[in-house]
Amino acid sequence: MNTNNSVLLKTTFFLKNQGTTKTNFLFSPIRSISLMSGKQFFVNRYKKLGWTYKEVKLKQAIRINTMNANRDTVVKRLESLGIALEKIPFLEDGYWIRRSKFSVGATAEYLLGLYSIQEAAAQIPVTLFTELEDKTVLDACASPGGKTVQLANLMNNSDVIVALELKQRKMFALANQLERSRVTNTAVYNMDAKEATSLNMKFDRVLLDVPCSGNYVTDKDWFSKRTIEDVHRNARRQRQILTEAAKVTEDGGEIVYATCSLEPEENELNIDWAIGALNVKVEEIKCHGEKGLTNVFGKELDRSIEKCRRIWPNQTQGFFVCKLRKLAG
Ligand SMILES: C[S@@+](CC[C@H](N)C(=O)[O-])C[C@H]1O[C@@H](n2cnc3c(N)ncnc32)[C@H](O)[C@@H]1O
Repeated sequence: MNTNNSVLLKTTFFLKNQGTTKTNFLFSPIRSISLMSGKQFFVNRYKKLGWTYKEVKLKQAIRINTMNANRDTVVKRLESLGIALEKIPFLEDGYWIRRSKFSVGATAEYLLGLYSIQEAAAQIPVTLFTELEDKTVLDACASPGGKTVQLANLMNNSDVIVALELKQRKMFALANQLERSRVTNTAVYNMDAKEATSLNMKFDRVLLDVPCSGNYVTDKDWFSKRTIEDVHRNARRQRQILTEAAKVTEDGGEIVYATCSLEPEENELNIDWAIGALNVKVEEIKCHGEKGLTNVFGKELDRSIEKCRRIWPNQTQGFFVCKLRKLAG
């Protein structure tokens, strides 16, 4: 597609969204684009939310699978191979790779499932559940399975995880990851999380690592590809998944909602909506990150949303996490 075509498509998107006529499009396409997409548009939004944009280099991280090996033993083995590690201060089993002459995905220790390669912020959501052992757990959006393995690890491979993934082409990566990490408590379904009620099961713990718009730290083309319409479309899809998840969660059960998006529509605004529409409340969590926003572009949100955590890019990529409890009735 040439640049003109892509400009035309983006502009048409915007105009549809705004209900603007084709005549407007003919006279002001460039102005429309600069208002609704592009780096400056998103950076200005972050500024309005109280954060100043900065360049951040993604740091590779690993997480020790303590169900398969002792943490100190793995660290010593990796250091003896010449891999320099730095303990991630806010994670129990996480380490940044400071230096390695070869890929950390090419060691015998990795192939034996002694550790997983998992970005630091992405290691947070699973740690927010209380008591995972012997629980019935749903991982609703599972591939490539980094968090499924982490769940199995904290469950010590006990009871059961049901892992769902919509895209068939992503099932292979998920199966591979589980097999390499010696996960034995997981049943995997190629299935839409929006149909989770068809499983006829109730879950004590539900992980919603929902599909999202992502962020600029993990995707160098992010600012040139994303429009506000993408953000709105993802936010709608996330609400549908949240709705179905609430139906399959036991009363008193926990739902951890996570995105790697910086956009409030996919984060605080969705949680504000969930508090009103679903039978859930926000729980206190203790983890890395800042309080969730309770005022988004002038809109006041439920005060309990400050219990969520927003992680602006710094030592990690951008992330948002929230723990919800399903209320009785
Ligand atoms: C953020 S990624 C999950 C990453 C994964 N939890 C991990 O830690 O490795 C979201 C995943 O959800 C899948 N997905 C998207 N829509 C879905 C749906 N409606 N039901 C189930 N999975 C879905 C995507 O294909 C993608 O693999």
